[in-house]
Amino acid sequence: MDTSDCKLPGSVFVHQPESLFERCSWFYALCREYLFRDHTPEIASSLFPAGGPEPGTHVLEVGCGPGFYSCRLADEYPQLQTTGIDLSENLLSRAKRRALRRRLANCEFRKGDAHALPEGLCRVDAVVMSRLFLIVPDRETVVREVFRVLRPGGRCFIAEPTSGFRTRIPLSCMWILSKFPYTPAGGFREPQQADVMSRLDFAKLIGSQPWGSMKIEYDGWYQYAVCEKSSEVEAAA
Ligand SMILES: C[S@@+](CC[C@H](N)C(=O)[O-])C[C@H]1O[C@@H](n2cnc3c(N)ncnc32)[C@H](O)[C@@H]1O
Repeated sequence: MDTSDCKLPGSVFVHQPESLFERCSWFYALCREYLFRDHTPEIASSLFPAGGPEPGTHVLEVGCGPGFYSCRLADEYPQLQTTGIDLSENLLSRAKRRALRRRLANCEFRKGDAHALPEGLCRVDAVVMSRLFLIVPDRETVVREVFRVLRPGGRCFIAEPTSGFRTRIPLSCMWILSKFPYTPAGGFREPQQADVMSRLDFAKLIGSQPWGSMKIEYDGWYQYAVCEKSSEVEAAA
């Protein structure tokens, strides 16, 4: 992989308060498995519109949690390599166990911050991001990072829930569960209320990057963005 143009904009790991996802990883993994919608078919048709992916295609899942999509895609398309990035060690351990149980050799997980994606991860063919903007403090930086690490011609699929009420239920349960056995002095990193984005804010956020093409869709409970980085970006750089 050519990493020569992959500049890392400074790490933001230091002094992070504890995460609800770290403390309640088991609960989030249950919600992901049994409660949330599985968007794998939409992801596949958006990222690989010409049919299956080419051998060696590299898909990055940012904020992968328990590795649901990284494993689903790696399982369905053995010619893919998937990499899942998350801040939570406990969720990453779950993701690794999931891949191991399914004997997926084309799926790996690493600790990393969506605001400053790990060095060496660049020129990926595709990015998947699901339910992450709800949580991150600086959405614009995250979308800029996604744009940066995609290769020219690469695509991303982003899914965000639209219902504050439905999103609040799992988050509130996690807050309640997190009270036991103790609450860290500095509280938790995540908000008590899920901050779902309006259609306008979502479209503005995604449109903050100079995509070659960008499609935004809604289906009631979710809003989606499918974007392609122009293959002329490299030529112009
Ligand atoms: C609501 S969950 C979504 C997980 C998964 N994408 C899904 O669809 O179920 C948000 C995930 O983002 C992770 N996360 C939060 N802030 C992050 C950051 N700055 N960088 C990377 N991952 C982050 C959390 O640990 C958690 O696993």
